[in-house]
Amino acid sequence: MRVIIYTGKGGVGKTSVAAATALRSARHGHRTVIISTDSAHSLSDSLETSLSGSLQSISENLDGIEVDMQLELETRWKEIQTYFSDFLASQGMDGVTAKEMAVFPGMELMSALFYVEEFHKTDAYDVVIMDTAPTADTLRLLAFPDIANWYFDHLFHMVKNVIRIARVTVGKLMTAPIPSEQFLDDLESIRERLVYVRDLLTDPEITSIRLVLNPEKMVITETQRAYTYLCMYGYTVESMVINRVVPEDLHEEYFRDKLDEQRIHMKTIDEIFSPLRMMRAHQMPREVLGKDALEQLADEVFGDEDPTATYSLESPMKVFEKGERVVMAIKLPFLMDQKLELYTRKDVLTLQLGAYKKSISLPYALAGKPVLSAEVEGSWLNIEFEGEKVGKGKGRKRRRSGKKARKTPRRDSD
Ligand SMILES: Nc1ncnc2c1ncn2[C@@H]1O[C@H](COP(=O)(O)OP(=O)(O)OP(=O)(O)O)[C@@H](O)[C@H]1O
Ligand SMILES: [Mg+2]
Repeated sequence: MRVIIYTGKGGVGKTSVAAATALRSARHGHRTVIISTDSAHSLSDSLETSLSGSLQSISENLDGIEVDMQLELETRWKEIQTYFSDFLASQGMDGVTAKEMAVFPGMELMSALFYVEEFHKTDAYDVVIMDTAPTADTLRLLAFPDIANWYFDHLFHMVKNVIRIARVTVGKLMTAPIPSEQFLDDLESIRERLVYVRDLLTDPEITSIRLVLNPEKMVITETQRAYTYLCMYGYTVESMVINRVVPEDLHEEYFRDKLDEQRIHMKTIDEIFSPLRMMRAHQMPREVLGKDALEQLADEVFGDEDPTATYSLESPMKVFEKGERVVMAIKLPFLMDQKLELYTRKDVLTLQLGAYKKSISLPYALAGKPVLSAEVEGSWLNIEFEGEKVGKGKGRKRRRSGKKARKTPRRDSD
């Protein structure tokens, strides 16, 4: 299964390009599904069909769904939501507020991720196209499997406490509802499923992130930041679509300044994002609405090519030996004015870039080894660790089984 996720600043054309890709993918004979994770849900408008929170057929080989949080709450999250709202009500919160509060942050993100997981497990589709909300929300979505680990630790802790309190208050007045078996099972399976989906999304053979942008300064800057954060979270940014390029052969006086400006921005995009694969689409004379207009957009972006082709398999994280040292390299293509902090604790390396934080479980060969240096070289942050030979006896030993120590980084929840 192939997963293609379109992301970018608000209004750049993510929905249009995602819908165009989905139509073209289906035409190439791939069993395709398009998922909208944006609560604004303009995918229906773009395709001029009415999609809903359940899978629906759009055309031959193409299904679509707009993740509907209300529906997800009533089905997938019922047990969990019921327990939490009962819990909050038992603590004195009024019924309506308790119900509202029981929608904990990230539920809608998990729903979207679980669709990807289900499609993969059931081999339901060859291609999954994701139309996402503007950058900040999408980063939240894609960082979620990592953050969820922390989150679930706290959730489990809270539930355990409730059970403990329930035990010691037997015969006395209960202060909180006891979680049902179903609830505990649900919680347990969520963590496993998130690990599964995270592995799918960070596998460059399966998942590609495509950046959509316009040739405008503010858009370029936001795209650079997004690119860096996506790399930090281990995603492969594989290509970009420069949308709404004003045709050069417009001889209207009115567009002269716009075209001058655009030339500068196109040059900038080329200089800073190369060698990333770049596809282009012109500003169309009319709004891109309906299947015919979307097919035209697909022609512009992909020509005769299969839109599901993989343009890059580069993983944004590598571990290699350099003399007696071991280097962990993390791709961070555009470090701008954000503060970058790095610290290690036992076998976890934490990277904080601006407001975003990422924890990486170190490979066995690096766990407990001192960090000797950390330097940015071009697009990569190279963190040098003391090698195994140097630190013999000090750090953690290789695995007892005698198998070769793992050299690829593990993430949080492995
Ligand atoms: N190449 C194009 N030429 C003309 N109009 C376009 C083009 N691409 C997109 N549009 C139009 O621009 C508007 C915004 O596009 P779209 O909804 O695809 O952007 P988006 O990035 O998904 O926005 P949001 O961030 O709100 O989800 C739509 O009306 C769409 O029809
Ligand atoms: Mg959109």
